[in-house]
Amino acid sequence: TDKEMFTVLVSDQMDKEGLKPVLESSLVNVVFQPVHDTSVPLDQIDALLIRSATTVTKDLLNRMPRLKIIGRAGVGVDNVDMDAATSNGVVVINAPDGNTISTAEHTFAMLASLVRNIPQANQSMKKGKWDRKAYQGAELYGKTLGVIGFGRIGAELAARARGFRMNVIAFDPFLTKSRAEKHRVTPVDLEEVLSKSDFISVHTPLTKETKGLLNKETLQKTKQGVYILNCARGGIIDEKALYEAIESRHVKGAAIDVFEEEPAINHPLTTLDQVITTPHIAASTSEAQKNVAEQVAIEVLDYLNGKPAPHA
Ligand code: MLT
Repeated sequence: TDKEMFTVLVSDQMDKEGLKPVLESSLVNVVFQPVHDTSVPLDQIDALLIRSATTVTKDLLNRMPRLKIIGRAGVGVDNVDMDAATSNGVVVINAPDGNTISTAEHTFAMLASLVRNIPQANQSMKKGKWDRKAYQGAELYGKTLGVIGFGRIGAELAARARGFRMNVIAFDPFLTKSRAEKHRVTPVDLEEVLSKSDFISVHTPLTKETKGLLNKETLQKTKQGVYILNCARGGIIDEKALYEAIESRHVKGAAIDVFEEEPAINHPLTTLDQVITTPHIAASTSEAQKNVAEQVAIEVLDYLNGKPAPHA
């Protein structure tokens, strides 16, 4: 008998080379269209491949009775209603390590740009100015970087910061003594990260526990003149509280790649000179996008072929 054919919908921009395993499979028909606006009937889709732009709600899942698996080409699954997926029997897999290096490198690039006012100085020269005084910066050497969330990305960031001879402290409830020793960081509690860091960078997922982790109250406990970075998820830092802390000059500057609502167009934080922003591109490198697309493509294909899902 003929083997069953599967329809895989790729709903977000994804690396084509990485998707080769599904594109070349004779069992799979691949469609590239946003799930919220697809010409393929939702009830014919067996697998859905997404990045962060597609939001998978309970309502959407209920309209996809054939759906077996969602492959998230990236780390965060906060754009998927996980409870609804579980109760509908839909497996959700992600690519937990394909974009680690890219995200850590972007965060470090933001850190270095921030402390030397590189984006602002560049912008002023493009406007025909030659203003050396306005853009005096500071050294990273000997400064303390506080990493909140010491997973893969936090650890890679710490390695880069140590290369610049920074002192790295880390808060993560799951950070063991041996892991901290291995990465040569000092494990501390949240209070200490807040009070001792010259730079604070968050690297946690967005969960009930981490939402608003840096808020009005916790930002008040930071050092006067601290810099704040978020290349993890919008919402870990309360944007309004950050805006106010920068306006009051308590926080000296911030580098933000991710926002509570995306796309973040004309966001209030972009109006502040001390804030540098990028449009959720920390994982946007050719290497990372190939890695994550390939990882989910292989696993989704395996699952459709009857193998158990590894990251379920
Ligand atoms: C991730 O969670 O992997 C990143 O936010 C990157 C992305 O959304 O593509």
